[in-house]
Parts: sequence; structure tokens; C-alpha cells
Amino acid sequence: MFDSRPYIFYAYMNKKGFIFDLDGVIVDTAKYHFLAWRKLAKSLGITFSEEDNELLKGVSRVSSLEKILAWGEQELSKERFDELLHKKNNDYLGHIAKMTREEILPDVPRVLSYLKSLDQPMALGSASKNARRILTEVDLIHEFQVIVDGSNVSKAKPDPEVFLNAATGLKMNPKDCIVFEDSLAGIEAANSAGMLSVGIGDAKVLKDAKFVFKDFTEISNQFILNELIS
Ligand code: BG6
Ligand code: MG
Repeated sequence: MFDSRPYIFYAYMNKKGFIFDLDGVIVDTAKYHFLAWRKLAKSLGITFSEEDNELLKGVSRVSSLEKILAWGEQELSKERFDELLHKKNNDYLGHIAKMTREEILPDVPRVLSYLKSLDQPMALGSASKNARRILTEVDLIHEFQVIVDGSNVSKAKPDPEVFLNAATGLKMNPKDCIVFEDSLAGIEAANSAGMLSVGIGDAKVLKDAKFVFKDFTEISNQFILNELIS
């Protein structure tokens, strides 16, 4: 039988900075972003598929709209652009308002409480400007020592700024940080921050991640202890 006691003792001594993306990692909001963007794209006569949506995961609100317009070969005035951004966010917030703890992704609470039991520093690193609102909605806001969101960065993922700021907030060296991410842009950001990247989703999509799991149900406490902390 595996004796985890020496590892657990080591884990108390050895701290890692655990940084979680929000959308698609902690909560199942990726589907709401998809619905809101698809509605907006449709209103502009632009087709928008699940594959297109994949390329918007982790991407800021502004860059997402820029990409959709580029795909549809459309250009808009600054005023109309801002109006559409506002519209998309209102639509998205309509979905968010109905969120409950049910929408926390499977086994996220188990992983968070396991890391907490080992006294590991934890941060949120999200591109979303709605991150605090969503964490409050699902009652997870107090789980993170540091929250870096879309309002705290000047450069969006794949730039590493969001994760580097989270590491600074946790007072951790980037090389001792581990990032959980569901997006291509986020994995790229974590890798260029010099952090260990853990992809949550499809291994064929998240090829550049150090490890990939379908979801947190596949990440055992033993794996966390032996592979991520030790
Ligand atoms: C990311 C999502 O977490 O946040 C993206 O993956 C989204 O799809 C981005 O565009 C910005 O979110 P928000 O809530 O500020 O529009
Ligand atoms: Mg995400």
C-alpha cells in the first residue's frame, strides 16, 4: 500500500503556488460565453462554430470581438464596437445571474480543499472582468489568497502577465507555480511564464501543456502530492 505520510510532511514544508484559471476550469461558463458570442455573431451575419469558440477561450473580451469581426471580414466604428461589447456582456451576465454552486466543475471543491489542507498558496488568474462576480455567485471567493482578473492586467493571455502577477501576489517564484488552464492561450501564457502547465480538457487541443486531464476527477490527491508539490 502506498504510504503518503512522508510526502504529506514534505508538502507542508514545500510550498507551490497553485494558480487556477476560472472559465472552463473552475466553473462551466465557457458554454455561456459561447452562447453570447454566437448570438452576437449571428446578428452580424457571421457564422460561429464550437471550433471558433475554442480559439476564443482565455482570450479577452475586446480581442474576442476583434477576432469575430476579422473572421467575418467586417470593420466597425469604435462606438459600434463598444456597443456590441456591452451587449455581449449583458447577455452573458444574464446567464451568470442564474448560476449556482451546481456549476462548479466536478471535483474542483475536492482539489481546492485538499490544497488548503496542505496549506498550499492558491490564486485565481483569469482574463475575465467578471471573475469576482462569478466567484461570489458560486461562493468560492474566499478560497483564493490572490485574485488577478481582466481588470488587473494590461496584456491579455497568451501574454504571461496575469500569471506572473498572481505569482507576485502569492510571493512565489514563477518556476514554483502550477497553472490549471483550459485554453490554448492560457497554456501558452503559463509556459512562457516558466510555470508548470496543467491542461483541463482535450489533450489533442492542449498539446503544449505539461499534463492534460479531461477534468479534475482525473487528478488524484496522490498525483497532486507526488507530481505537483514534491
Ligand atoms: C476568459 C474566457 O476566461 O475570459 C473568455 O475564457 C472571455 O472566453 C474572457 O472572453 C473575458 O471574460 P469577460 O467575462 O471579461 O468577458
Ligand atoms: Mg478558461
